[in-house]
Amino acid sequence: MSPVGTGVPRADGPAKVTGDALYVDDIRPTGCLYGATVRSPRAHGKILGLERDPNFDWNGITVVTAEDIPHQNVVFLMTEDQPALADGLVRHVEEPVALVAAETRDRALAAAKHIRVILEDLPALLDAEIAENHEIKIYGDDNVFKRITIDKGGQVENGIVIEGEYRVQHQEQLYIEPQGMISVPREDGGLTLLGSMQCPFYIVKALAPMLGHKRMNVVQATTGGGFGGKEEYPSMLAAHAALLTLKTGKPVKMIYRRDEDLRATTKRHPSVIKIRSVVGEDGTLLQWDASIIMDGGAYNTLTPVVLSRAILHLTGPYRCANQHLSGVAVATHTPPNGAFRGFGAPQAMFAVERHMDRIARHLDMDPVAIRQHNLVVDGDISVTGQVLTDTGAQVVLDQALEAAEAAVRTPHKHPGGGIGRYARGRGVALVFHGCGFTGNGEAAIKGKVGLELEGRCVRILTASTDIGQGVETTFPQIAAAELGISVDRVSNAPHDTANVPDSGPTVASRTCMVVGGVLQEAAKKLRSALQAETGLDTNDFDDLLMARTNTIPLRVQAEYVDSGKFIWDNDTYQGDAYPAYGWSCSIVDLDVDLDTGEVLYRRFVSATDVGKAINPVIVEGQIEGGSIQALGYATYEEVVLDDQGRMINDRLTNYIIPTTLDSPEMITRIVEIPYTGGPFGAKGIGEIPMDGPAPAVAQAIEQATGVVLDILPMTPERVLAGLEIST
Ligand code: MOS
Repeated sequence: MSPVGTGVPRADGPAKVTGDALYVDDIRPTGCLYGATVRSPRAHGKILGLERDPNFDWNGITVVTAEDIPHQNVVFLMTEDQPALADGLVRHVEEPVALVAAETRDRALAAAKHIRVILEDLPALLDAEIAENHEIKIYGDDNVFKRITIDKGGQVENGIVIEGEYRVQHQEQLYIEPQGMISVPREDGGLTLLGSMQCPFYIVKALAPMLGHKRMNVVQATTGGGFGGKEEYPSMLAAHAALLTLKTGKPVKMIYRRDEDLRATTKRHPSVIKIRSVVGEDGTLLQWDASIIMDGGAYNTLTPVVLSRAILHLTGPYRCANQHLSGVAVATHTPPNGAFRGFGAPQAMFAVERHMDRIARHLDMDPVAIRQHNLVVDGDISVTGQVLTDTGAQVVLDQALEAAEAAVRTPHKHPGGGIGRYARGRGVALVFHGCGFTGNGEAAIKGKVGLELEGRCVRILTASTDIGQGVETTFPQIAAAELGISVDRVSNAPHDTANVPDSGPTVASRTCMVVGGVLQEAAKKLRSALQAETGLDTNDFDDLLMARTNTIPLRVQAEYVDSGKFIWDNDTYQGDAYPAYGWSCSIVDLDVDLDTGEVLYRRFVSATDVGKAINPVIVEGQIEGGSIQALGYATYEEVVLDDQGRMINDRLTNYIIPTTLDSPEMITRIVEIPYTGGPFGAKGIGEIPMDGPAPAVAQAIEQATGVVLDILPMTPERVLAGLEIST
């Protein structure tokens, strides 16, 4: 039986359950020092100097500043704007200014506390809505990281005009394991960087300008979650650990405490979205104009790409002949925002779905009916001119409604719903999500996968890291299915950039669909190589192995090949924005506590198109986990900043996320509309669960109480304020 489509147990499970898995903090190279970071206390200022407390014992403490950087003071990503250590100027609170190393972690943290950054305060610009062209300059001469406009069709003369404004907030990725990195000097004078990360090759590229031509390899340790938060930030930590190793000649470990991690690392981009629609009396969308302002924080990071994905999802899965989209991502003096599961789409989708609710309210239509009436079907043209095929909006809507209907007969898990002080509501949201990199991104990076024969077994060589999403399990399933062998004969090589090819970053819901496809090609190549070597034309892998006379290790490599089917123009934003789309419908049943304003989740039903579930258990886990993270985005998670842009609720006692006890009963339907370009038809699944829940919750609160919230998070305070206004 093919291992594809079955719930093969997780390859990484036993080591994690028994404690054998080595996370970065479990690894202790001999003579390892500990590093800590001295950070800016203010949002914007001129650095006048660093003052060491004369009463502190500085014995054995090494201090590194920007002056110690051997080449360029840059952590490279898309641009060269972000320094490894602030030099002369700080642009956000908590910006790294200096580093210390000591023999123990406590000593390092104490030393960092005893260095004072002396600043001349400069006026700070914290408000994204006024940042563009502001007289206070942060980035370029207009504070704009990126601007995108897309126009399709023209202006409609007649119809009902409905306008709305929607606001979404920061969100913290909140991986279980904080950021951590170890730098180890190599015997050949180079460096090894070992840590918690999504993208080993990003670190190699990020550190090259800073380290010059120094040899370097990057190794992923077992990683306790990423959610985008370990896409780009580990490069900063790697730069810091490397600088301390260069100065001390010793291995250096840096692990953030939770509060430091919350204050200093990237978050989801807050955004303000305005939509002006023109509709017919029957609810037909005639014109759809949407604009977004996105807060990038003080440095560029990945913000232009996040804006791009936000814009490309700003139509929702709806048909409309006249669409005008525009967006701007601006700089503010706040810690840089960055990659987070969904990558701009959750922001866009909250606004789009709330606007569909607004139209329904205005026309006195049912929220499901307005979606049903406008959803895209095969042959519809997207805002970029892409002819949509294999659309799944209708099927996921039908499947979710059917599943929710069937579930009504089962009693609720939680008692007390729908009576007395509780008001019960149901909300429905319909979303889509582009799988893989936008446009010609994949053709540009050409992901590579290696396969190695080891006796009767096969080893996969990729840079695709397991951050909890299950690739260590699904990749062997793909290779085993292609070769016709059992899954326990396939393993994954450690993700060491010295030994694996660059298969591209572990991001953008691309690993299974894109890298998995290259892996399938590599498996075919391995079989062909064995056929050529043995002269047999059988496909039976064991017969080929048996006929093999030499014992020379066999290694093949496959590379992403552009099908030529998708055409994209990155300058005009015209063409095929994504090779495939996932579709999902979320239905949430909740109670609003009318005394406290608290939202209690009762049941969450979803139907999600994944192309093909390589491992249905893992897919279900991705959908459930992502949906709960999105319920947190909806009603719990609020990053509170002080007047310097510093996160003040920097603990898990006051940055609240949903726990198991807050989680509703979950009913998950997997829909499979195969994508021919993916392995066995698979598409991406990592991010789409993040898109639908928040707007579904808003609609459910509205249905339960009449309170209309177009802002996230929908905290008890906001719900209560709404209830007070409406009574
Ligand atoms: Mo992801 S948010 O594309 O690391």
